[in-house]
Amino acid sequence: MEDILILAIESSCDETACAVVKNGREVLSNVIHSQIPIHTLYGGVVPELASRKHMEKINPVIRKALADADRSLDDMDAIAVTYGPGLVGALLVGVAEAKAIAFARHKPLVGVHHIEGHVAANFIENKDLEPPFLCLIVSGGHTHLVIVRDYGVYEILGRTRDDAAGEAFDKVARAIGLGYPGGPKIDREAKDGDPDAIVFPKPKMADNPYDFSFSGVKTAVLNYLNGEQMKGREVCRADVAASFQKTVVEVLTEHTMLAAKTLGMKKVAIAGGVASNSALRSAMEEACAQRGFSFYRPSPGLCTDNAAMIGCAGYYEYIKGVRHGWDLNAVPNLRLGQR
Ligand code: KG4
Ligand code: ZN
Repeated sequence: MEDILILAIESSCDETACAVVKNGREVLSNVIHSQIPIHTLYGGVVPELASRKHMEKINPVIRKALADADRSLDDMDAIAVTYGPGLVGALLVGVAEAKAIAFARHKPLVGVHHIEGHVAANFIENKDLEPPFLCLIVSGGHTHLVIVRDYGVYEILGRTRDDAAGEAFDKVARAIGLGYPGGPKIDREAKDGDPDAIVFPKPKMADNPYDFSFSGVKTAVLNYLNGEQMKGREVCRADVAASFQKTVVEVLTEHTMLAAKTLGMKKVAIAGGVASNSALRSAMEEACAQRGFSFYRPSPGLCTDNAAMIGCAGYYEYIKGVRHGWDLNAVPNLRLGQR
């Protein structure tokens, strides 16, 4: 079989990224321009600034991805691009760029769901991983527990009823003065803290044991901080970070293990930015080992936003025959499994 090369573009949030991926799982190049230093000044992603920076960086990032892979645009079999979910202005930059390249070079265009990209990141380093498997998807905007039935086919078991896991990390980080981006900063701070110092509540959904809710634990952290301030006591930031992180990690791990056991899934994967959390990775690894499940997780750099994962997901869409037209648009609230 001939090699299939995909040029993948990702610009859904604050990362301008381009990758060249061969046959779905071999990453020839993976270039990421992070906007973190810009948004840090404002304590979070400023959509207008994100779009402007994507416009400035997208061409150099694509040029570098092609140069790193030692390939030209003509070598590409298809152009894959994230078209949702994400920030509309940010997505539009990638979508317009991908359409322009595909049109000018007569290449097929494949729109990719950003969250499907996160799931596909697991295929890159685990060449033997094939569906079906259970996957916990934890990003800044999404928290889903799904069965990946086949490539691009998902059965959603549970989702968050309020905040996404990453959103909770970001809000708590802001509350304890760690700033943006919250997740990695809490991860680091928690290493110096006692995870048992403070007990935060772990919500359970009576009607669906696989659903999540993180607004309660976030509010509990805020109440704890206010209470301590009113008593004139100094807060130990590392203890708050460690205790909060432990609570979230336990909820995520317990729900996932319950689903795996109940549904007889022997392969468990994690995906999304929060999947780079060191406590979550070790808790899931241990829980899976205890139960005899195989555990899969992308390396941290492939958990957070990148274009290699989009190239991987795009490849499986491409070989299924998925093609998008010149009317492909950004869909900021694209749902998982929606086409
Ligand atoms: O998947 P992602 O890069 O972008 C979205 O699609 O949302 O996820 C970003 C989220 C942010 O909320 C960030 O704080 C969180 O992932 N995150 C982490 C860690 N690294 C990133 N959360 C906890 N621990 C980390 N090490
Ligand atoms: Zn993402």
